[in-house]
Amino acid sequence: MTDDLTELPGVGDKTAEKLEDAGYGSLESIGASSAAELQEAADIGEKTAQSAISAAHEQLDHGYSTGKEKLEERDAVNRIATGSEEFDELMGGGVESHSITEVYGEYGSGKTQVALQLTVNVQKGEEGKKAVFIDTEDTFMPERVKQMAEAEDMDAEEVLDNIFVARAFNSDHQILLGDKAQEICEENDIGLIVVDSLTGEFRSDYVGRGQLAERQQKLNKHMKNLKKLASTYNAAVMVTNQVMSNPDQMFGDPTKAIGGHIAGHNSTFRIYLRKSKKDKRVARLVDSPYLPEGEAAFKITEEGIRDA
Ligand SMILES: Nc1ncnc2c1ncn2[C@@H]1O[C@H](COP(=O)(O)OP(=O)(O)OP(=O)(O)O)[C@@H](O)[C@H]1O
Ligand SMILES: [Mg+2]
Repeated sequence: MTDDLTELPGVGDKTAEKLEDAGYGSLESIGASSAAELQEAADIGEKTAQSAISAAHEQLDHGYSTGKEKLEERDAVNRIATGSEEFDELMGGGVESHSITEVYGEYGSGKTQVALQLTVNVQKGEEGKKAVFIDTEDTFMPERVKQMAEAEDMDAEEVLDNIFVARAFNSDHQILLGDKAQEICEENDIGLIVVDSLTGEFRSDYVGRGQLAERQQKLNKHMKNLKKLASTYNAAVMVTNQVMSNPDQMFGDPTKAIGGHIAGHNSTFRIYLRKSKKDKRVARLVDSPYLPEGEAAFKITEEGIRDA
């Protein structure tokens, strides 16, 4: 397969350059885009965008595939260990690539701890990959990652060096960082993309009822982008979402339900975390396309996520 865009029929040097500059340097990234998206991102005409996409599809042999091919695609899925065997079992072996996994729960339930553990564990072994961490709450703690890495006998500096961290200052910036992650994915072997928190900035940027539709639309676009990264680069996407401990508190506040709805609709796996006694936590698999619902207990220790 050639990745030289100029060899695509209907795509000239200039267009190829524009596409590459906009972060669409591979056939996969073009093939997975909509014409409107390419038009906007690369400042090209609708016709050019459409022919680039169909040419990419042709080269990539997109279209129908057999169930057997689909199974082979499933075989390429990677699973990132959580640190707890019970938790992994619940997830069918770990957090899956090619999908979005949403982890939601109240404050202190362990969402960020799980995310940090995954940035370490994705790097383990011969097939180890790197991680992207979009941080909206200033919760990326290098010291904590160091602790977790050392507990795995890994070189902490190297582990930290393999995590690309960006701080999002508002929801638009967060969306932009999601787009930018594509460039990092083009240049690095990225196995995990974390967004912690997915919804926090959206919640504070769009407060009134009148802004709900816009927020919903933006969040949806953000998640579509993340989904595209997951499938184009066979990476696991993990997003966190905070919810109130008492569901009754959500009553009368449609903003929470909407955020949850959009996030849930776009996630392949949904995990609800809750605090239990002392350092114990319970993960509940709420939604999965093929795994049964169930629960796993784990704990948060100095070393990281472990079996309870
Ligand atoms: N070094 C450590 N050793 C043991 N437990 C720790 C350590 N660091 C953090 N924890 C535990 O992790 C908890 C915090 O979890 P975490 O930050 O992942 O919650 P969260 O779900 O992300 O919350 P929020 O919604 O506020 O972001 C702390 O309350 C503490 O119990
Ligand atoms: Mg957190």
